[in-house]
Amino acid sequence: MAKRFVAALLAAMPWLVESQTEKSVYAHFMVGIVEKYTVDDWKTDIAQAQAIGIDGFALNCAPERVDNYTPKQLANAYQAAEELGFKVFISFDFAYWNTGDTENIIDIVGNYSSHPAQAYYGMSISDGAIVSTFIGDTMDWNAVKNELSNQKITALPNIQDPNFVANAQTGLDGAFSWYAWPTGGGNSIIPGPMSTVWDNQFIENLAGRPYMAPVSPWFFTHFNSKNWVFISEDLPNLRWEQILALKPTLVEIVTWNDFGESHYISDSQPNHSDDGSGAWATGYPHAGFRTLWAPYIAAYKSGAEKPTVESDQLVYWYRTTPKDTVCTSDALGPPDGIEYLADVVFVATMLTEPAELTVTSGGNAPATVTVDAGIITTNFTMGVGQQSFSVSRNGVEILSGTSEKDIASSCETYNYNPYVGVLSA
Ligand SMILES: *[C@@H]1O[C@H](CO)[C@@H](O)[C@H](O)[C@H]1NC(C)=O
Ligand SMILES: *[C@@H]1O[C@H](CO)[C@@H](O)[C@H](O)[C@H]1NC(C)=O
Ligand SMILES: *[C@@H]1O[C@H](CO)[C@@H](O)[C@H](O)[C@H]1NC(C)=O
Repeated sequence: MAKRFVAALLAAMPWLVESQTEKSVYAHFMVGIVEKYTVDDWKTDIAQAQAIGIDGFALNCAPERVDNYTPKQLANAYQAAEELGFKVFISFDFAYWNTGDTENIIDIVGNYSSHPAQAYYGMSISDGAIVSTFIGDTMDWNAVKNELSNQKITALPNIQDPNFVANAQTGLDGAFSWYAWPTGGGNSIIPGPMSTVWDNQFIENLAGRPYMAPVSPWFFTHFNSKNWVFISEDLPNLRWEQILALKPTLVEIVTWNDFGESHYISDSQPNHSDDGSGAWATGYPHAGFRTLWAPYIAAYKSGAEKPTVESDQLVYWYRTTPKDTVCTSDALGPPDGIEYLADVVFVATMLTEPAELTVTSGGNAPATVTVDAGIITTNFTMGVGQQSFSVSRNGVEILSGTSEKDIASSCETYNYNPYVGVLSA
């Protein structure tokens, strides 16, 4: 082919240049809370995500009749992603959409399916533009595909019953599971730790079709309409250990910025609109989960069994009140699920060589354990007061620090969102 022709072809079809590797990691982004976002705000988030190896955002959105800014923010997201070489796809939130919206869904999917920032499943556009959902199990993707016959679509909807996918006639190509926490199904809370029971059912029923596995660090929510905590505890690294063993086709982090359910890993997003979740998310940074996850994301993509740690760090997380603390002015009462929680402080050491970890939790005596190289999570009995951490190797302290947030023995309102911190050598 003439060089000029190739150049023109690549300009017209940038996906040929920026082809995706098969193992991609996406993160669920709540468009509903970024009404005021500019393209620059989107770029701030995208840069944070790219820094730990996230390939793209699943743009969770409601129809324009619910959030009149949805079209504008989808356009901003695609534009920002294009400018930074990031990928996005739309995740229709069927708490708000319904199958009667099919024509509108076709318009939107068709509008973006050949956009340079559109995420494709597999190596090229011929593998299909990804479209996904939250719930909406019965949505007919054949109707979408039939109308967009000039562009292959790969439908990876969220499916609640893994048995449904075996014989689904809805045109789905694969499935995304929302069971990122220990659950008996739906929102039923069961004791931890997390297992791969649901993943295994999805993988079996999909019989080789792509499975997009969910990875989440936590889940606490405290609205009138929902007041519970899933048993997350050591989930932040346990879940990734499971993913490295399962090797699912795709991963979707749940979520990037859902402050309301406390499973955000983004920074605080100063320009998001607060739906009331500021009461438990403000002042509770989760950036440390990104530090913890970067080596897991790299390992997942390369097919490695274990994450590689390049420098000595530790990430800690804990709830900021013991679970029997009665909060004094909370009309909602304590969240469902607390009976299964443990009053412990979690420390994930990220070490190049074995070392000694010492944790002083409040008034408890300092506790020292020997930890191996790699990423290891250890827990320590929670004590009210300051939380201090140090790591020594061969008798020499290599890192130490005290958390900016104490554990308190009193509270006004219930907050079971974890406080997350990082210490580096
Ligand atoms: C938030 O919005 C303001 C005003 O539009 C802007 O100046 C600022 O840069 C934004 N902050 C971030 C972090 O994007
Ligand atoms: C189509 O994309 C443009 C931006 O490229 C956006 O402004 C418009 O709202 C989109 N329309 C639909 C139906 O998605
Ligand atoms: C704390 O660590 C112990 C020892 O490894 C383990 O048996 C226990 O399940 C852990 N607790 C939690 C809540 O993860």
